[in-house]
Amino acid sequence: MKVLVVGSGGREHALVWKLKQSSRVDKIFCAPGNAGIAGLAKCIDIKADDINSLLNFAKYEGIDLTVVGPEDPLTKGIADAFEREGRLVFGPNKKASQFEGSKVFAKDFMLKYGIPTAQYRAFTTLAEAEEHVRLKGAPLVIKADGLAAGKGVIIAKTVDEAIEALRAMIIERKFGDAGNKVVVEECLEGEEASFMVLIDGSNVIPLASSQDHKRIFDNDEGPNTGGMGAYSPAPVVTPELEKEIMDTVMAPFMRGIAREQINYRGVLYAGIMVCGGRPYVLEFNCRFGDPEAQPILMRLESDLFDVMKLTAQGRLDEMRLKWKDKSSICVVISSKGYPGEYEKGKAIKGLDSLSGRDDALVFHAGTRLNASGETVTSGGRVLGVTALGSDIKTAKENAYKAIEKIHFDGMHYRKDIGGKAIKRNQ
Ligand code: AMP
Ligand code: GLY
Repeated sequence: MKVLVVGSGGREHALVWKLKQSSRVDKIFCAPGNAGIAGLAKCIDIKADDINSLLNFAKYEGIDLTVVGPEDPLTKGIADAFEREGRLVFGPNKKASQFEGSKVFAKDFMLKYGIPTAQYRAFTTLAEAEEHVRLKGAPLVIKADGLAAGKGVIIAKTVDEAIEALRAMIIERKFGDAGNKVVVEECLEGEEASFMVLIDGSNVIPLASSQDHKRIFDNDEGPNTGGMGAYSPAPVVTPELEKEIMDTVMAPFMRGIAREQINYRGVLYAGIMVCGGRPYVLEFNCRFGDPEAQPILMRLESDLFDVMKLTAQGRLDEMRLKWKDKSSICVVISSKGYPGEYEKGKAIKGLDSLSGRDDALVFHAGTRLNASGETVTSGGRVLGVTALGSDIKTAKENAYKAIEKIHFDGMHYRKDIGGKAIKRNQ
């Protein structure tokens, strides 16, 4: 079988790595890929959101399954375009991807189907939004409706901060059309977890739980990023909480999509806030989390090609997922300056130090090969060092030991990934 993976991040490197282990997969292509992916798959110079070129390539090569990593092509309708041509694709269609593409759509759906989430109101004008903010008082969370590369959410501690955020979105159009509508919602406090499920249209099965680390610095300080590290499982997601999420979030979700005639096939990611022991949905994403996918896929025992094919074909009732009884941690190494401006082109040393090991791996994100074949940095998040261990503590030790061998100018990583889980387990 021939597989095309769309995307170029650490998540896509992990997907390619896991798909490569399938005895059914003969050849993997990745568009556009990165320097690490190039060691496992044939990288194709097509952008992840160039749907026409990707479809033409898939037809030309006779691709059997296309796996879409990032949200951008999904919300632009890549799955619809492939399905129209009878091509199997893993990832939801345009209508189903609105759960990530529009926060107003996701919140209205949650309200309609009784899924626990923060109270909210949606606005299109500054005057109305401002009046509401003054009435409610701080703290409040202000969200741009559309995709904003993870930057469209502002936690406002004061009324002034909230109004400033609204002004930036509605008047200054900081996020372009993504700010045509805004959501103002109640600020929830608690511990976050990432809870992903596979949905094949009518069946839903949970993946292993995980927890992301959004802030750039230790102790959750500094600005938000795409994610600086993740571990799986997340001890905050106890078996009881998992059952509650399946009953109070996923069951009404499935009823809702049936009622609204939304054909959802792929991963559904629920960002959960656990408040007073109860799960509330902060957001839905229509894809694997990055970096959550890295530790989750490292723990997956089942054949990922089978899992994805059965999901795309609506046959998940034939699948039982198997997991390694181990913990896994991914520590992201970023470029100096990220999530603000950063330099590119720094040579990365020590990548070979982990070759031959299957308990510690380096998944590449923002890397590329330069003209002399050296691996250099080319993005904000550069690498995700991912390790397994008998428990989170051992996985953490393995990951940080592996990082010691890797170096590039200005590299930054958090030293406390996994700390929360270890404390909780004590
Ligand atoms: P989102 O993209 O909606 O997940 O928001 C990004 C981050 O903002 C989340 O991971 C939370 O840390 C935070 N956040 C979003 N909504 C809320 C909320 N209602 N209360 C508190 N924090 C929130
Ligand atoms: N790590 C958070 C996300 O993928 O959205």
